[in-house]
Amino acid sequence: MPRTIVITGGTSGLGLGLARHHAGLGDQVVAVGGSEEGGRRLRAEVPSAQFVRADLSSLHQSRELVKRLIDEHPAIDALVLAAFRFNPVRVETAEGFEHTFALYVINRRLMAEGLRGPLENTPAPVIVNLCGAGQGGRIRWDDLQLTAGYRALTATMQGARASELLGAAYASERIKYVLYNPVFVATRLHEPFKQPLRGLVRAGSALFAQPVRKAVPPIAALIAQPPAEPLTAWKKGKPLDLTVDRDEARRFEETVRTLAG
Ligand SMILES: NC(=O)c1ccc[n+]([C@@H]2O[C@H](COP(=O)([O-])OP(=O)(O)OC[C@H]3O[C@@H](n4cnc5c(N)ncnc54)[C@H](OP(=O)(O)O)[C@@H]3O)[C@@H](O)[C@H]2O)c1
Repeated sequence: MPRTIVITGGTSGLGLGLARHHAGLGDQVVAVGGSEEGGRRLRAEVPSAQFVRADLSSLHQSRELVKRLIDEHPAIDALVLAAFRFNPVRVETAEGFEHTFALYVINRRLMAEGLRGPLENTPAPVIVNLCGAGQGGRIRWDDLQLTAGYRALTATMQGARASELLGAAYASERIKYVLYNPVFVATRLHEPFKQPLRGLVRAGSALFAQPVRKAVPPIAALIAQPPAEPLTAWKKGKPLDLTVDRDEARRFEETVRTLAG
């Protein structure tokens, strides 16, 4: 039976690969991206998918998106969280959040919480959070917005740990939560880097990264048949033994909820 798959970041890289895969199965694909260029790419490569443009680093736009999705798609089988942008320098959003935190942390929580209803309206709902799970990221409890000594890697690793904590706080018997680390896949992830790093990453990507077409099937398999356990973690298709402190997860979820309202 055709399912409804919502993919944030569904206009490039892994998100686009998953959009192509599910559209090929006859699923209804809703791909969210921040740019018209991404929308054009999606329309050219996956004409049957619905494109929704929204800046997911904006809490306001994220909430409007959730309202629209609930309205248009009362039943959602899978939510794939893949919108991400690497920020070489610290960027603050108009709403006052460090950009990585807004996009990688707050938006992912808002999407998961906001779409709980439509997910529960399907028989085997799953959230797949594409992130750097199991890489040893940590939360900067004393400076979540990284106002002092910003480093792109610190922001990215904090976002990866946040995904683990938010996943642990969210996962339930009813809605399965999958943390998936694709490791190194040839996508547009390198584009925000400055030269010469951008060229280096692009060259490294051409040599060592997995192509999207190879990275997609193990992720799609988890959507086709969600794991039995509420929370699972995976690294390049293999299960990952991840320990998440429940108290830290609860504390972090409460902190993000308070920050984001
Ligand atoms: N590729 C890897 O090696 C790798 C490794 C570990 C984890 N991951 C994870 O895998 C996921 C997918 O990454 P990818 O490599 O496929 O990246 P990608 O090719 O750069 O795609 C990123 C997607 O996010 C969207 N996006 C970025 N900023 C947005 C915003 N403010 N609002 C809405 N959409 C936005 C982009 O669309 P627009 O540009 O049009 O906004 C694009 O569709 C990410 O969560 C990443 O953390 C990837």
